[in-house]
Amino acid sequence: MCGIIGYSGTRQASPILLASLKRLEYRGYDSCGMALLNGNKVIDVKKGTGRIEEVNGKVDFLSLSGKVGIAHTRWATHGNVTMENAHPFTSCDQKYALIHNGILENYVELKKQLIEKGHHFNSTTDTEVLVHLIEENMKQAKDLIDAIKKTSEQAEGAFTFLLLSQDSGEIYCFRKDSPLIIGVGNNEFFASSDITSFLEYTNKAIILENYELAILNDECKIYDLVAEKEIEKDISIIEWTAEQATKTGYPHFMLKEIVEEVEVSKHALDQDPIKLAGIVKLLHQAKNVYFLGSGTSYRACLIASIYFAKFTHRNFMPILGSEFKTYQNLFDNETVLFAISQSGETADVLEGIRIAKSKGSKVISLVNVMGSTIMRESDQYLTLNAGPEIAVASTKAFTSQVIILVLLAFALNNQLSEGKDQLNEVIDQFEIIIKQSDFIKELSKKVLNKQNLFLIGRGVAFPVAMEGELKIKEIAYIHADALAGGELKHHTLALIEPGISCIALVPNDETKDDMINNIMQIKARGGIITGISSEKLDIFDHYISLGKVALEPIAMIPILQLIAYHLSVLRGNDPDFPRNLAKSVTVL
Ligand code: G6P
Repeated sequence: MCGIIGYSGTRQASPILLASLKRLEYRGYDSCGMALLNGNKVIDVKKGTGRIEEVNGKVDFLSLSGKVGIAHTRWATHGNVTMENAHPFTSCDQKYALIHNGILENYVELKKQLIEKGHHFNSTTDTEVLVHLIEENMKQAKDLIDAIKKTSEQAEGAFTFLLLSQDSGEIYCFRKDSPLIIGVGNNEFFASSDITSFLEYTNKAIILENYELAILNDECKIYDLVAEKEIEKDISIIEWTAEQATKTGYPHFMLKEIVEEVEVSKHALDQDPIKLAGIVKLLHQAKNVYFLGSGTSYRACLIASIYFAKFTHRNFMPILGSEFKTYQNLFDNETVLFAISQSGETADVLEGIRIAKSKGSKVISLVNVMGSTIMRESDQYLTLNAGPEIAVASTKAFTSQVIILVLLAFALNNQLSEGKDQLNEVIDQFEIIIKQSDFIKELSKKVLNKQNLFLIGRGVAFPVAMEGELKIKEIAYIHADALAGGELKHHTLALIEPGISCIALVPNDETKDDMINNIMQIKARGGIITGISSEKLDIFDHYISLGKVALEPIAMIPILQLIAYHLSVLRGNDPDFPRNLAKSVTVL
């Protein structure tokens, strides 16, 4: 994970790097740092532990002067959260400063060799090895390009990095297995993990591939290190706006993104009919289709697989990104892997895609981030059109995923227009639900702000409850447990005692009668029920209403997101940046 940003241009770099770094904070936020080449051609480094604002308060990044520099926000993998382990790292001769996104797998043996050769290390990270290795390789190499090429052959794992060179005043931007985008501005260049970080300055971007190296100074040259030659790359125009990536008056990105669900869901429905038809054809032809996703995206896979079973009578099994290898024998050239990912960079999902492709399977993906690795490595893709999602907890991307997948289930059953109608009804409900935010907040405060919460649902409402569980744990830090109503009697009833709070999802569908039985089992043991339903049942102790729509469980999603959001804020947490978590998980 981690976020990296570099700037080379005609303006002072530190304010630009600081602003961009804050937009990358969702990728990691335990420590951060910046390195600039000053007017005396010396590399100045400042870093510290904590969130960016906090570190800036201590070290004052803006006191760094220079027009070329790099900055990093960290999500610790190798090495504790300490100032020494924060990036950037410098070489022994102080000629190079480096920041890194990824994990260098063979760093232990490389470090040992470098220490034997006299290099001195200040941190316990894998990253610091890279800067010393480049320094060491420079001893034999004809230039930095050559030294980086040699380094890329010795290093194993994911090692996308930016290297600031004191001699030349250039930034060397190398990509291997973690994203790296070059922003092309007016007499200035950016290099970043993510487009949104530099959108304020330019919407022109070059997406680097593995083993490509961009060198930034007053121009940008790109080299293919495998082919050993300079290459020309297309510049893409990014349609997202900088404003979409700001809070625009909302206290948190998460709340803003929940409110955006109405608009964004409409965009999600507005898919290119030709692309949609192509995907439907591929799904029709496939002998087997498997969904793949992690975290919230996996919950979208679970929901989709139920709708595909209902509407098309086919079994599209959902697989967790991190569990892909267990199922790899299921993949062959008659199989389609359907990968779902907001960021398009999740390492577990990407690994699955690569394995599936090596077995001849076709890959379809549904991503939010244009130009992401998953999108580019797929045979066909659809985009969510949800705009940038900044809060770590995925909300509008999730609802968009669900909407598009359900639309596809309808389309596969030749009911595209009926699907659109039903989904539009769901979107109308989103609007009504979001207006109930204050009521949901009050209820969360009085009834749900407990140490333990249970959520029950059946059918589609079960994975919807699972997504509610995930959100509550992720940002409210409350232990939550979602289960299919029918499972209660097999184990979790043992935990129900007077006062235990339980959220029951009761859509007006075939699951309703069974859900009523399950609720009675909880109430008989003193549990307190908050019912979410289009009908106010007497058995509910508390009630959150929504309208009667055919796809009622999907309409419930924003209710659970709002509950999690309000619980998080009530408990003094920052819902946008949950502890220990990051948005784009580019490590296995
Ligand atoms: C991280 C995020 C989650 C997200 C998951 C999958 O864990 O914190 O919000 O659901 O990654 O991410 P993806 O980008 O593949 O949807």
